[in-house]
Amino acid sequence: MSESMRHGRVSLLIELADRPGALEEALHHFSVAGVNLTHIESRPARDGRFDFYVDCEGERGDPAIEGVIAALARGSEAMLVLDERTVPWFPRQVAELDRIASHTLDAGADLEADHPGFKDPDYRARRAMIDRLARNHRHGDPIPKVEYTEQEIETWGIVYRKLESLHEQHGCAAYLEAFAHMAHACSYAADNIPQAGDVSAFLEARTGFRLRPVAGLLAPRDFLNGLAFRVFFSTQYIRHHSAPLYTPEPDVCHELIGHAPMFADAAFADLSQEIGLASLGASDAEIEHLARCYWFSVEFGLIREQGDLKAYGAGLLSSFGELEYACAGGEAELREWDPAAAAEQDFPITEYQPVYFVADSLQDAKARMQTYCRTLARPFYARYHAATESIWVDRAVRRTSSSRR
Ligand SMILES: [Fe+2]
Repeated sequence: MSESMRHGRVSLLIELADRPGALEEALHHFSVAGVNLTHIESRPARDGRFDFYVDCEGERGDPAIEGVIAALARGSEAMLVLDERTVPWFPRQVAELDRIASHTLDAGADLEADHPGFKDPDYRARRAMIDRLARNHRHGDPIPKVEYTEQEIETWGIVYRKLESLHEQHGCAAYLEAFAHMAHACSYAADNIPQAGDVSAFLEARTGFRLRPVAGLLAPRDFLNGLAFRVFFSTQYIRHHSAPLYTPEPDVCHELIGHAPMFADAAFADLSQEIGLASLGASDAEIEHLARCYWFSVEFGLIREQGDLKAYGAGLLSSFGELEYACAGGEAELREWDPAAAAEQDFPITEYQPVYFVADSLQDAKARMQTYCRTLARPFYARYHAATESIWVDRAVRRTSSSRR
């Protein structure tokens, strides 16, 4: 059951006269009626005045609530009762990510029959162990340390070496800058797989982004919701040693080599969070649009630097073949980064992308995403409050309960 189903919520927009004590008088009506305020926020309005958004506990029809509304209507310049919207469940507090972290879409440790490790009982046992670490993780716990085996480090080393020189050529400047720092601070090396906990601590100090262990792929809604909290769900297992340059799923190489360094860049971090905030309580159709925006930026985004195409998307930065293919810019269609167009663009997941979107810079990529998100018909406007690690929404919403939560 959602919190707002236990306690109804009424949201009011009040415009007050510009004089001392006006707010105090308005709030007095709540205390007299014994109505509990849950949130109050001011926003600049016309003519130097302020609008006040007030959330309180109760429901329309309650005598106390109706009394407050009537008193406010008499005493303020204007007053509006905002409708409560029913929206798909979304986390309001960072600890609520615990509810979605274990709902992986794929088979988890029970690999699909076409997975390179399917017939390897040792690999499957290892996956099951790392899978458990992720599933048992709770917000606030330290990220579990994984003691990687020699064989795993060897697999990592093959990927690492193969990508190293390609990154110099095709990685964007922000990626290279962050990677150089992280190699030192988080012990990235061909013969060492960094610990997700160290990487997360580094990123948190730089941009407030954190990694959170996950056992496999999440539904787009769940995954994107995490980004709203500046949390990136990240796997810790590694691909099968028989096919070091191929993985059918995200693994520690994709996460730590492809994704993690980009979260050290402020503009990229904001771009990612923007998509996350827009995903909170969004309709299924909007989630599909946002997932495509994510795909064409965070996974396969390109930018232009001194006239050259450079990669900032993790799908490219962790794939030596496609990284060269995309940055050569020969065969694929290159389009200017336009989230509205990306939102409508289908994509293949098992072959090179036929279309890439190119931004002028990471700042440009972020700014365009912000502009796009402002155009979405959203049920509410959401903001992340870093000090309390919670989501503030500008109107009363009822989060629909779901059987799995
Ligand atoms: Fe990814």
